[in-house]
Amino acid sequence: MKEHIFLASPHMSEEGYEKDYIKEAFDTNWIAPLGKNVTEFEKEMAEKLGAKATVALSAGTAAIHMALKAAGVKQGDIVFCQSLTFSASANPVAYEKAVPVFIDSEKDTWNMDPKALELAFEKYEKMGKKPAAVVAVHLYGICAKIDEIAKICRQHGVPLVEDAAESLGTNFRGQCTGTFGDFGIISFNGNKIITTSGGGMMLANGADAKEVAAKVLKWATQAREPARWYQHTEIGYNYRMSNIVAGIGRGQLKVLDERVEKKRFIFEYYKKKLGDLSGVHFLDEQEGARNNCWLTVIQLEKGCKATPLAIMEALEQDDIESRPVWKPMHLQPIFADCDFVSLTGGLKVVDEETGADNSVSGQLFEHGVCLPSDTKMTEEDLDRVCAVIRGLWE
Ligand SMILES: Cc1ncc(COP(=O)(O)O)c(C=O)c1O
Repeated sequence: MKEHIFLASPHMSEEGYEKDYIKEAFDTNWIAPLGKNVTEFEKEMAEKLGAKATVALSAGTAAIHMALKAAGVKQGDIVFCQSLTFSASANPVAYEKAVPVFIDSEKDTWNMDPKALELAFEKYEKMGKKPAAVVAVHLYGICAKIDEIAKICRQHGVPLVEDAAESLGTNFRGQCTGTFGDFGIISFNGNKIITTSGGGMMLANGADAKEVAAKVLKWATQAREPARWYQHTEIGYNYRMSNIVAGIGRGQLKVLDERVEKKRFIFEYYKKKLGDLSGVHFLDEQEGARNNCWLTVIQLEKGCKATPLAIMEALEQDDIESRPVWKPMHLQPIFADCDFVSLTGGLKVVDEETGADNSVSGQLFEHGVCLPSDTKMTEEDLDRVCAVIRGLWE
């Protein structure tokens, strides 16, 4: 019987670090919410990434929500947000009753196109409007042109929220993703490069990082005022990470570098074994970037031997998981009324032949497929995936 191959599943350390931290929490009865693991996890992550301040939260989505609030996003504001992403990048904009304006990707990094971002600023300036924040993403662990994006945001005096949910361990010229923006966020969801079963962290990187972190900490713990009784002057949230969950995170952090190496090995392995297939493309790493290669994604030329769907179905037949590229937010029914800024034109620029959206993000969605990138995969597992895919070219 062949074993199931996961797209990306939790991978605890062989040494059992996670269990040690959890045991300590049990032994000292720090089960209920906070405790040493939470504060130490925050400290260790801040040191590892070079962030000025960190707050451990229940999810990456909660971290984006808190970052947007800290950026001052409020009802009726517009927020420029990368279109090619998971919906969690955009949903917190709606939590605050602000309106997302989606920005197209570029071919070089598949992430937010700095030129499209400039275009959006020009477009909205003409209407006398300025976004309250920009949300840029490092999709699949691929580093965005983050220095250019950060520079544009600074020039316009607009806070940058860097969604590094998928890119923990990626760096640009030695600086970790998540630390370029005024705010950064990380996810420890079950499929991420390291996991706490579920959880997230907000990073504050500005001169006021400590005050920002204190504010977020307060909002995330029901916005309780420092009084003897339960006093509230703001709406609060129950977003804090628990001490048990943080224990898993501390153990996982010890193996992050190892996990990055394995993910990069997986990417290179696929490239070596599938790179010769006609019409199959891998993205080159941006100069200066070192990606964590969270998921290896291939793009298929229009009219080549297989479609993404054919690959996903063939893999599924062999009990192997794969996944389409994220469907861009400007193509999602829930955001149908939102604006989309792209160098290819505005909304609904359709390829007449295929009916597909002609924007860069639309095309990446149309032609992309995420290959299994589980760090527990052996070379035999990788060969099994490659054999199924190569079979479609025979
Ligand atoms: C790009 C992106 N942003 C945000 C999130 C949200 O993180 P979480 O699932 O921890 O809420 C995820 C993943 O789940 C993600 O992939």
